[in-house]
Amino acid sequence: MTAVPDRYVVIGNPIAHSKSPDIHARFAAQTAQDLTYERVLAPLDGFATTVTGLIDQGVKGANVTVPFKLEAHALAGVLTERAQAAGAVNTLKFEGARIVGDNTDGAGLVADIVRNAGVPLRATKVLLLGAGGAARGVILPILHQRPAGLVIANRTVAKAVELAARFAVHGNIEASDFESLQRPFDIIINATSASLVADLPPIAPAVFGAGALAYDMMYGKEPTVFMRFAVQHGAHARDGLGMLVEQAAESFFLWRGIRPDTAAVFSELRAGL
Ligand code: ATR
Repeated sequence: MTAVPDRYVVIGNPIAHSKSPDIHARFAAQTAQDLTYERVLAPLDGFATTVTGLIDQGVKGANVTVPFKLEAHALAGVLTERAQAAGAVNTLKFEGARIVGDNTDGAGLVADIVRNAGVPLRATKVLLLGAGGAARGVILPILHQRPAGLVIANRTVAKAVELAARFAVHGNIEASDFESLQRPFDIIINATSASLVADLPPIAPAVFGAGALAYDMMYGKEPTVFMRFAVQHGAHARDGLGMLVEQAAESFFLWRGIRPDTAAVFSELRAGL
């Protein structure tokens, strides 16, 4: 008798362009895990019903993407600490009737910066641009690395102030507007959605310390405007493709208990952009 492979999915709307099935198929082949991974398009008003249906079909876990990460957070019966802190869930694990919600985005970012780029976060000055969902999702994992300080800068300053207050118990964190930041940082992370529309947050060149790492959570075939601006002012720049692969590896680990080798998958994805 042949065993039926375990099923995993990524749920979103739209979903056609998700790279997750490609990434997880490569992880599965590499680690000899017998599983399938499919895209699921959920109706905008039908996330919970879609999840219930998938559980009934015996699906073991799901990645969740735009616009359902908040609903996934609400739906999960058990949340990891980092999912609670993020206020959003990108990974669900179905254990019988129990729905476990996790968020692997921040761990993915940290792994890409520390392990792949070789830049420690410990004792560094970190600037996080943006205070939306993408920014909130990475704050706790960054603070767990014990940076010297984390500044959150946002166009709508009140949102940065709110986030800084929320995470103050976890480390040295403060809020700022963009314009008054005139001091150098070691690591500058763009978590705004400005790159999507080829826009640049209004930051001063002075924020790029000598040899700083400028990290854009977005990725594409070409460097983003933020990356180009950073390089012009002496920083090294890196896009978010590594974060994408690392957050997937972290989900894979949650489901399968095995850590895939991300370097080969990263290179293959880069070549295919
Ligand atoms: P996401 O889930 O991608 O974080 P979001 O929650 O809508 O999306 O947050 C978008 C973030 O990008 C916000 O911090 C937003 O700033 P505001 O809070 O002031 O709206 C920021 N943002 C979007 N476009 C921007 C731009 N052109 N310049 C600077 N910041 C921008």
